[in-house]
Amino acid sequence: MYNNFAKIYDKFMKYCDYDQWSSYIKDKIEEYHPQGKTLLDLGCGTGETLIRLKENFQCSGLDLSKEMLEIAHKKLKNKGVNLFMGDMREFNTGEKYDIIISLFDTVNHLTSIEDLEDLFSAVKGSLNENGIYIFDVVDRKFMEAMFPGGIYYDERKDMTIIWEHSREDDLDFVEANFFVKNKNNTYDKYKEYYEKKIFDRSEIEKAVKKNDLSLLTVAKNDKIAGERYFYVVKKS
Ligand SMILES: C[S@@+](CC[C@H](N)C(=O)[O-])C[C@H]1O[C@@H](n2cnc3c(N)ncnc32)[C@H](O)[C@@H]1O
Repeated sequence: MYNNFAKIYDKFMKYCDYDQWSSYIKDKIEEYHPQGKTLLDLGCGTGETLIRLKENFQCSGLDLSKEMLEIAHKKLKNKGVNLFMGDMREFNTGEKYDIIISLFDTVNHLTSIEDLEDLFSAVKGSLNENGIYIFDVVDRKFMEAMFPGGIYYDERKDMTIIWEHSREDDLDFVEANFFVKNKNNTYDKYKEYYEKKIFDRSEIEKAVKKNDLSLLTVAKNDKIAGERYFYVVKKS
């Protein structure tokens, strides 16, 4: 997951307005933890959010994918941002943070309630007292809008993507073949496969409670990248 795909992730995400995204997160921090100074981006990917938040916070990032981190490292070299390779279900960077974030449905990459509980447990262990965790998840409606049939094409100027989507039990399976136009006007092919789980609000609330964290708010946002739900959870 996110290895070969890392090479074209930023091109694929070109439509995503990270500036808008980052100011939305800054507003949430201002509202729920204005004194927060240190921030960890869990599932930081290629570092697009960290680039935008590093002026306001002392930032760090963590991701499972070495390839995504290599790209983040190129962008953030000598910029005072620490990057870690690790699993969000069991990470420990040796530091504690005022704010932890996980954006662009990174949490939906977990595939069981146990994984979700492990995530909150690891987050709790790495938050300072009164620290907050902000993350977004997508729901079934989003998945249906994104994958309208078992198979469909997304044709863009410089790439064509063939998506195959299926569901079994409570998991979604996504396979994408990317055909990316190169300098020679031929196409390079990249393949990506991942599983996703749609957690409903009561499952998230239960996992939050089980870890003695408090849910401060759940906000729907459909202005940035489809309809998403942003949760803010606090350690106190
Ligand atoms: C949809 S991308 C989002 C990346 C970034 N947050 C953004 O907004 O562009 C999901 C990221 O989560 C990472 N990821 C998936 N499972 C993970 C895990 N268990 N621990 C840490 N990172 C994980 C992937 O490698 C990928 O970089």
